[in-house]
Amino acid sequence: MPTDFGVYRPMKFEATIAECEVVEGEIPKDIYGGFYRNGPSARRPHLQSSEGLFTTDGMVQGLILEDGKASFRNRWVRTPKFLAEEKAGRALFRFTDGEFDDWRAQGLGEVIRDDYTTGVPYGNAATSTIPFAGTLLAIGEMGGSPVALDRATLETLGFPAWTAKLGRGHREPACYGDATGVAAHPKWDWNTGEMFGWSYRDSEPFLTVHFTMPDGSMRSRPLWDAPYAQVAHDAWLTENYFVMPFQPFTLQLERVAKEMAVWDWEPDLPIVIALIPRHDIDGEIQWITADIEPQYITHTLAANEADGTITLDGPIFPRPPLMTNDMFKPGDPFAGFWQIATSKLGRWTIDLSRKTVTSEQLDDTICELPKIDERFFGRLYKDGFLIGGRPSEGRAGAMKMNRLIHRDVRADTQREYVITDSRHEAVLEAAFIPRRPGAPEGDGYVIVPISKFKEGRAEYQLFDADDITAGPIARIDIPFYTGWTSHGCWLDFRDHVAV
Ligand SMILES: [Fe+2]
Repeated sequence: MPTDFGVYRPMKFEATIAECEVVEGEIPKDIYGGFYRNGPSARRPHLQSSEGLFTTDGMVQGLILEDGKASFRNRWVRTPKFLAEEKAGRALFRFTDGEFDDWRAQGLGEVIRDDYTTGVPYGNAATSTIPFAGTLLAIGEMGGSPVALDRATLETLGFPAWTAKLGRGHREPACYGDATGVAAHPKWDWNTGEMFGWSYRDSEPFLTVHFTMPDGSMRSRPLWDAPYAQVAHDAWLTENYFVMPFQPFTLQLERVAKEMAVWDWEPDLPIVIALIPRHDIDGEIQWITADIEPQYITHTLAANEADGTITLDGPIFPRPPLMTNDMFKPGDPFAGFWQIATSKLGRWTIDLSRKTVTSEQLDDTICELPKIDERFFGRLYKDGFLIGGRPSEGRAGAMKMNRLIHRDVRADTQREYVITDSRHEAVLEAAFIPRRPGAPEGDGYVIVPISKFKEGRAEYQLFDADDITAGPIARIDIPFYTGWTSHGCWLDFRDHVAV
């Protein structure tokens, strides 16, 4: 999975802008906090023939809004891998799937250890950032323990103590702290600060949930009844349940020896949903098999639980939007995230008494990268903010993301604003900003990053969530290339007010 061209060309330097230029409109003075994005950006030329997402280094970009002004900085995450390579002055790590010289070289194979890497826990913390316990966590997809960063300076603070208790991944641990981590999209409860994360692997237990409080205390439960090993990228949280879907985007390290990619799509396996009591982690888990057509939800929007049903919302693909053995053969050219399949907002509805699942499409607009007002994780919600698009004029089945969508799932209405239609610009994942502490759900702003990768610039656009169709209320210029960032969050610096 090469990460060195087009929008995937990495940002190769660290920068600081004390005050960014606001090229249009004004930043409301009552906003105070940071918008953080994480993405893969290899610090040094890699050793293997093809750069994979999991061989890179995490780089976090932060835009802090305060008193109507914006400042920007970006920093690599100082993982043990990064620090060891800084000391050596060269890249050090190789992987058993790194010999393929094509899209299968993802960096998901075993680490090939030598004198330089023995004793160095591997991880790149390159997929997402989330707020937790007053810090910013940089998280890789099972790519080493989450790393805490200072929210103002982006300085790496290290592994929080609780990360030592996380479940291991599919690699054989080579040293203390190696081959562990969580998936990239933990959920959290705004009022209590509890974080709902999980780790996964290709041998039993295939998945372990970890519920962590801000004081570092953690409750964990391995799911010994899990049906198969999967790439468990995202989940839902309701008032009573942590909802983990098992979807047949499967994971097997042993595929490397067969010259196959570690990931595959096996649609003959059923979709099975685990309902784990969030207030009683050791309580009975309800396992519900979904009798629906093969489909795949990469990222969840949010869930509502009421009247004996749970509705699980998210963009639904017909298959994972990634290169897998069923669809691609060795040597095929790289296909990016939006070039393989198309997703539209859908809903899985669980009938709790009948233990059935139905699936429906909510809208026919192409969309992905779903976000909500994250103060409402695990509660009844109505506002969804997604990046939308249209069919691409290039590859069949590809989508071109070019707009911001505001979906009201309660009123079943949708608004959108087309941000760009340039094929040389990429609209990236947004985040919601409350208008003030304690503001009602959805009352606030939406911030959207845009990579203008051909121009070598970037921009943030700020919208009033009251009416995104009015266009941005402020545009903030970044006068250099910032590369591709996968996921991020808004971290509010104002007083915490329960909602
Ligand atoms: Fe993701």
